[in-house]
Amino acid sequence: AVELNPVLLPLSWLLGTWGSDEPGEGTYPSIKPFRYTEKLHFSHVGQPVINFMFNAFHAESNKPLHRECGFIRVQQGTNRVAFVIAQNSGLVEIEEGELTGNQLKLQTQSLGRISFAKEPHVQQICRVLQLRPDGKLEQTVSMATDNQSLTQHLHITYSRSC
Ligand code: HEM
Repeated sequence: AVELNPVLLPLSWLLGTWGSDEPGEGTYPSIKPFRYTEKLHFSHVGQPVINFMFNAFHAESNKPLHRECGFIRVQQGTNRVAFVIAQNSGLVEIEEGELTGNQLKLQTQSLGRISFAKEPHVQQICRVLQLRPDGKLEQTVSMATDNQSLTQHLHITYSRSC
């Protein structure tokens, strides 16, 4: 195995593969609530960068839905963290924020989308990823769109899987 770049030590709790143990909850004022499952994979190749893939599926039909992948960087000597993200919906995004203990709190720093992205357009995303004392990983995502101020869209917990 490649040795972990020491810059990533504060984020080493993310590394590996995670799967939702019970379906996550998707909500938003403009949509019908839904349930989804999700697999997360965080890896590294010795660079001061984490590579990640998030793949979500419809909880009942198992149909692939939302997918995102990207890179995580840490500003050396600080608790500042940046996610560089591409989403299958045609969104690309930089989220930045801070690591406090085992909690990462991120906000959209810049956002781009394909010219024919579905409306309403996302304007802002807030994401909290935290390792809980029971060893589970929890993710909460809120978003603002053209029509709606910052409101929760996703909540899910994951366990480590092999
Ligand atoms: C709807 C964005 C992640 C499933 C939506 C809408 C937006 C959006 C803008 C439309 C809201 C409206 O019509 O007012 C995002 C963003 C995500 C994300 C930015 C990630 C940061 C996910 C994930 C799932 C998911 C992980 C899991 C399966 C859905 C579903 C709908 C929806 C089922 C309703 C039907 C539809 O519009 O396609 N999302 N979403 N989303 N999202 Fe997400």
